[in-house]
Amino acid sequence: MFKIVVLISGGGSNLQAIIDHIQAGNINAEISAVISNKADVLGLERAATAGIDHHVLDHTIFASREAFDESLAQIIESYEPDLIVLAGFMRILSDGFVNKFQGKLINIHPALLPKFKGLDTHQRALDADEKEHGASVHFVIPELDAGTVIIQGIVPVKSDDTADALQQRVHKIEHVIYPQAVKYLAEEGLTLKNGHLYHQGKTLLEPFKEYLD
Ligand code: GAR
Repeated sequence: MFKIVVLISGGGSNLQAIIDHIQAGNINAEISAVISNKADVLGLERAATAGIDHHVLDHTIFASREAFDESLAQIIESYEPDLIVLAGFMRILSDGFVNKFQGKLINIHPALLPKFKGLDTHQRALDADEKEHGASVHFVIPELDAGTVIIQGIVPVKSDDTADALQQRVHKIEHVIYPQAVKYLAEEGLTLKNGHLYHQGKTLLEPFKEYLD
């Protein structure tokens, strides 16, 4: 069975979307564990309700980012996962951690990357007068929000939008694209090699070159 560990910091609605798809038989995988760096968050309750192992690893008790990441890696490795899913995990991971799991580590970011890396993406999209906004699922590399994109979901920006209204619209599309990305990886042979996507061993970089003159 394809095994997933999910890292969260909060509400876990993306976690819930993936749980729902697995329970409905849409994704052939199991979530082995959920790990939160914050106690008492709704995402942990969602894991408990679904009967999934869950852990709190409080980053504030560690002397350094590297020490936290080392403990986090130990818990993750004890589950021998095929995929690690960052679902609203609001911590920057050290280069050592990211390199250890590169190719198995994905994140969802609430913007159409490469636009609006970092925080406050909805307000920044409004300030920039964007007509479209959305979310991106991408592989994680040491550079923040810069890894290869797997799938994006686009939503319109309305003239009377607030950051909150836009955030809610983006959240809905996240719940569609994140389970889809997990399915690509769990079932459909999507992998990352040297920063490029491969589908069942064949590159997606230039798959149609045989049709060119
Ligand atoms: C999501 O909107 C996700 O895109 C964002 O946190 C939210 C978590 O919601 N992630 C980031 O901003 C990462 N930089 P959830 O806990 O309900 O899934």
